[in-house]
Amino acid sequence: MPSRGSRDAVRHPVFARCYARFSAAAEPGFGPYRRKLLAGLSGRVVEIGAGNGLNFAHFPGTVSGVVAIEPERTLRQLAVTAAARAGVPVDVVPGAAEALPVRSGAFDAAVLSLVLCSVRDVERTLREVRRVLRPGGEVRFLEHGLGGGPVMRRTQRTLDRAGWPLLFGGCHVSREPVAAFRAAGLELGPYRRLLLPERGPVLPTSYFVQGTAWRPAG
Ligand SMILES: C[S@@+](CC[C@H](N)C(=O)[O-])C[C@H]1O[C@@H](n2cnc3c(N)ncnc32)[C@H](O)[C@@H]1O
Repeated sequence: MPSRGSRDAVRHPVFARCYARFSAAAEPGFGPYRRKLLAGLSGRVVEIGAGNGLNFAHFPGTVSGVVAIEPERTLRQLAVTAAARAGVPVDVVPGAAEALPVRSGAFDAAVLSLVLCSVRDVERTLREVRRVLRPGGEVRFLEHGLGGGPVMRRTQRTLDRAGWPLLFGGCHVSREPVAAFRAAGLELGPYRRLLLPERGPVLPTSYFVQGTAWRPAG
């Protein structure tokens, strides 16, 4: 079903290798959050910016198929390996969030984890998410962004201006996912704010929000 888009919309080979290692090492602590994020999903799912595919093992058996979009070549190759081990069918596809290479209204759910921080254009990304969901389709998200007190927020904004995104594969630490979902016309469901990792120092990347949004049914 997906059409094959441009192969390397994003190129961050050094970050990709570091992320692959770091995220795999963090999986014992982070895995339960991924599992909770995806619990209860069913039908056709599109995952945006799937990275090295760490969500794949957590999709429940009620999911009939996943199209996992990943623009970065190194991460995409790792995602293909993860897809082969997944308990549900996963098709890993190159492409960017701002122009998803899939049909409109084709999916029951969309998954965004740790990706709104990194896309080039949040507004276009969420417009695309809305387009590819069927009316009433669900978004599951686990994202980090602006948080903490005034000093932390000022620090996050400064880091984003001072080159953090260049060092960390395009990641920004001062975006506001909940406001972005609202602005995109998605109906916000329940969400909760978390500090991750649970233990250790609080970092500019620690301010997470996990929740659900919907494409309006009408
Ligand atoms: C921090 S990683 C998170 C990966 C994965 N979602 C996870 O939960 O581990 C950010 C991901 O966003 C991807 N990404 C960056 N820009 C993107 C874009 N414009 N469209 C889609 N994905 C993008 C990166 O290649 C990377 O896989």
